[in-house]
Amino acid sequence: MCLMAQPRYTADGQLTLPSDYREWIFLSSGLGMTYAQSMQMAPAFTNVFVNPAAYRSFVSTGKWPDKTMLVLEIRASASKGSINQGGSYQGDVVGIEGEVKDQAKFPGNGWAFFGFGKSSTGKMLPPSEDCYSCHAEHGAVDNTFVQFYPALLGIARQKGTLSGHN
Ligand code: HEC
Repeated sequence: MCLMAQPRYTADGQLTLPSDYREWIFLSSGLGMTYAQSMQMAPAFTNVFVNPAAYRSFVSTGKWPDKTMLVLEIRASASKGSINQGGSYQGDVVGIEGEVKDQAKFPGNGWAFFGFGKSSTGKMLPPSEDCYSCHAEHGAVDNTFVQFYPALLGIARQKGTLSGHN
């Protein structure tokens, strides 16, 4: 299994979406969270995954190491299907976004954001995009929304790495 020790980029600087990201560590799902100014009407699910090496490092330190990569997989929600009578379940992928900490490559705090859409390579979004400001200002640990990932939140509390942002 490829643990993707390093983020990989194409020759023109796009980030490669590892084909096995669904075998990474699952952090949590959001349902209908509205921060993203989503274009669709029905609430979407957002599934967050992180590469296993970065997860293990977070568990022992409460911090993200260099070369951390997080994937936000956005899926449509459905409520009518098979035997389901109530509630919602996940449907097709609507889009995928990514976030990498690569201090040698990205100035400032070392993080960069990428939009994959439905492609396996994603263009880097320019620092003027609101991804950067919202994550930097509101992410509870180093640009990321650990306040919404219950297992990590406990670790960050214990290690004292919460920024106080919310
Ligand atoms: C107004 C605030 C806001 C903006 C703007 C925003 N995000 Fe986020 N982002 C969030 C929140 C809140 C979460 C965690 C909730 C979840 O599970 O969906 C999140 C989660 C993520 C994650 C999962 C890892 C993490 O940091 O917790 C990625 C990757 C991500 N966003 C990428 C993007 C990209 C790319 C953009 C710009 C196109 C963007 N975001 C714009 C608020 C924002």
